[in-house]
Amino acid sequence: MPNRQLTPLDRLLAGANNALRTVAAPAGHPARANPAESVPPAELDAKQKSHAAGLMRVNHAGEVAAQALYMGHAAVARDSAVEAQMQHAADEELDHLAWCEQRIRELGEKPSLLSPLWYAGAFAIGAASGMLGDKWSLGFIAETERQVCDHLDSHLQGLPSEDERRRAIVTQMRDEERQHGEDAVTAGAAELPGPVKQLMRATAKVMTRTAYWV
Ligand SMILES: [Fe+2]
Ligand SMILES: [Fe+2]
Repeated sequence: MPNRQLTPLDRLLAGANNALRTVAAPAGHPARANPAESVPPAELDAKQKSHAAGLMRVNHAGEVAAQALYMGHAAVARDSAVEAQMQHAADEELDHLAWCEQRIRELGEKPSLLSPLWYAGAFAIGAASGMLGDKWSLGFIAETERQVCDHLDSHLQGLPSEDERRRAIVTQMRDEERQHGEDAVTAGAAELPGPVKQLMRATAKVMTRTAYWV
């Protein structure tokens, strides 16, 4: 079939499809194997399980937001190379989403009930910052990924040593988030103003504190 330019309607439908797939359906098969697949399960007591599930729910909510952010940015990107880069990152984030969900369900719990809210908020922020132009859009992504890496680093430090399955997933996610951020910088990301970074941290804190419980 010949290639054709995507119309705004095509993009809208693709976005709606991604939103539904992210928040409403159980995660499908990830394109890449779950890093925890070959790691034997640990013996966790009920309290450790519930804490582990809460932390993974936070990471899963972050991945829901990452999907929306990248789709929001891609929807308004002006440069087709930037759009392709965002699509590639979004594909890796989709694996992260599936790995987190698999671990939450292994622990007998469910992802955040507020996933539609995390998706809608992040999509709006992604599209709004994308409208300022690609260098700001990339700047927003670079800063988001930096903050996500900090969060995942602190998660890794607080992990009980027996939870090696979670460590395998979070370590690979952290490495890939770092790469997404570096790719955005290489592609020409602008450095965001300090108050914007602080606002992003404050917003992320609301999401992480809420998703741990709900
Ligand atoms: Fe991710
Ligand atoms: Fe990422």
